Order: sequence, then C-alpha cells, then structure tokens
Amino acid sequence: MNVTPDRPEAPVNGLPDFPWDRLTPLKELAASHPDGIVDLSVGTPVDPVPAVVRQALADASDSPGYPLTYGTERLRSAAAGWLRRRHGVIVDQADVLPLIGSKEFVAWLPTLLGAGPGQRVILPELAYPTYDVGARLAGAEPYATDGLLTLGPERVPLVWVNSPSNPTGRVLPAEHLRKVVAWAREHGAVVASDECYIELGWEERPVSILHPDVCGGSHEGLLAVHSLSKRSNLAGYRAGFVAGDPVLIKRLLEIRKHAGMIMPAPVQAAMAVALDDDEHAEEQRARYAARRAALRPALEAAGWKIEHSTAGLYLWASNGAGCWDQVRALADRGILVAPGDFYGTAGERHVRIAVTAGDERISAAVRRLQ
Ligand SMILES: Cc1ncc(COP(=O)(O)O)c(C=O)c1O
Repeated sequence: MNVTPDRPEAPVNGLPDFPWDRLTPLKELAASHPDGIVDLSVGTPVDPVPAVVRQALADASDSPGYPLTYGTERLRSAAAGWLRRRHGVIVDQADVLPLIGSKEFVAWLPTLLGAGPGQRVILPELAYPTYDVGARLAGAEPYATDGLLTLGPERVPLVWVNSPSNPTGRVLPAEHLRKVVAWAREHGAVVASDECYIELGWEERPVSILHPDVCGGSHEGLLAVHSLSKRSNLAGYRAGFVAGDPVLIKRLLEIRKHAGMIMPAPVQAAMAVALDDDEHAEEQRARYAARRAALRPALEAAGWKIEHSTAGLYLWASNGAGCWDQVRALADRGILVAPGDFYGTAGERHVRIAVTAGDERISAAVRRLQ
C-alpha cells in the first residue's frame, strides 16, 4: 500500500501567514529614501546589552553540562527579588520558571495546559498575534474579545491579558484585572498575564496580576509572564520567566523537562545579574522616554492622533485613513511602521509605531515628519 505522508506545504493547524512578510514591499519603499530607512515596525531593541550582563554571560561560558529546566535557584531568586522590589509582588523562588524568551511560552501555553478542540482560548481584541497562534497550535479556538461577560457560563481553559498592551500601550487598572481574575475563577480558567512591558509605564503605572491588590494574595490559577528583552535589551539572549500558581508552575515544569525547553546556563547567569541590577534598566527607560517625547509631538503635528500609549514601547496612532494607506504615507517619507490590522480587525484604522530606533534615526524621523 502506498501511504502518502502529509506534505510539508499543508497548512499547520490553520496557522496564518507570518504577518511581517506582507510588509516587505513597503519596507523596500521606505529603504529607498535617500537618507535611509527609519524602521519603527518590529520593535526590536537596538541599544547595547548592559556591560554587567555581558560580563556575567562571559563568566559563565565554560558550561559543558546540561542545565536544569527549572533553572538555578540563583536565577529564580533574582526573579522573585525583582518582582518584590519593583512590583510589590511576593512570590516564592520555587514558583518561578525560566523561559527561552516569552514568545515560546505564549505559543505553547495552551498546549501545555491541555487545551484542545471544542475549547476557546480568550485573548484581547487587539493583541500580539502569538496568543492566537498558540490557541491554534493546541487545536483550540482563539477568541478575541475584551468583554468576558458576553461569554455566558462556558468554561474556558485560558484567558490572556496583556498590560501594558502591545500594540496599544493601554494599561489595565487593578480594578479591571480584579474582575478578570474573579471571572476566571468562576469559570475554571487560568489567567495568563503577559507583563513584558511592565517596567515601561509613562503616564500610568502598570500593575501585575500577582499584586495583592489584584489577586487578594492568592496566586491560584494565575501566571505572570515576564521578559528581559525590552527591560535589559536581551531579545538576542532569549530570556524570560513565568511566575505564579505553584501547582501550575510544577505541572508546566514537568512537561517542559520532557520537551527539553531549557534555558542555556550562561543565559541563566546573565539574566540573574540583569534582574538584580536596576541601574541599566533606568538608563534604558530614559532612552525610550526621550525618543517617545521627540516622536509623539512630531506625529501629532503631521496629523496623527495618538490613542492609549500611556505605557509600553509603542505609539498607537491614526490619521483616520485605512492602516495600509497610513503605512504607505509614512513609508513615502522613509519611515516604516506596522499596520494596525496585524493585531486584529479593530486595528484597521491605526498604525503601531515603535520607539525602538536609535536617537539619530528618531531625529531623522522627526525631521521627515515636519
Ligand atoms: C506582548 C508581547 N509578548 C511577548 C513578546 C515576546 O517577547 P520575548 O520572546 O522577546 O520575551 C513580545 C515581543 O515583542 C510582545 O510584544
């Protein structure tokens, strides 16, 4: 009998096309500007990795053996210490798990929690696309809504929240998060709170789902997901962690051990040092604050209205046109931004502008907008 295996080009669980590929022609247009492109699209860090962190990586580079999936106690304690010091969250170091950057966790959490066909994974209406991808990888249905109350009595495995938000820079107040936690506890859902921009509050101070004002001191059913990519310019190291419900953390650890989801030992050492050090994080914050302060009025003077954007790395902007027309108008000036519909249909009249270019490029953008 001739059995034909699934061909590699067959769609994988109905995953969407990788959105950034659709931006390529406009990237080429922006790159044709005589003074070069100002790329404010992806939001990748451009400033140096802090010297203390590089040193820690180098010092740990003789690392022949397998690291633990659970990470070192030193790393878990640094994460717990940072949460306490900076965010008023009390978590035991045993309830922290290192991640190889937070994106892999976002993509695999529904699978790791056993979500599957016939179940809905809830995500924000305007959201980082990987929440949707993660639901699909599990064979579950992604369901984008900001109104949990419209769902009725249905039990759901997982609700994602993201504050400060990518793409809008909106901050969810403690009161809102409290309602999400209460709803989830009634419906048997885990709440995963993606807090990777929590250190970048500008006009508002973001609060963690694990803060006692939100969860009443019990972490049951709650996971807070953190990343060092933006705080410490460690996107290239792949460094994040999740903390929260001890039972969930143990279960995730067991599966991740079997699956080999292990953070490299030198990165664990570097990440512990980064979490202990606030000085470099303050310097980085100041860089982003200055870029944001330069870019925002220039965009407003050029006809863009900025909405939300009280925290995080992005300006969520609109001049009233369709998002792709706005991307083109800016690409004509050599500035590349992301179309709002990458993040959901509710974004089709907005663009997302990252403040992640270097100072010289941000000044170039400001000049071009005049
Ligand atoms: C909302 C959100 N979550 C998670 C990530 C993934 O970050 P990383 O994998 O670098 O930790 C990003 C990256 O931009 C993001 O915007």
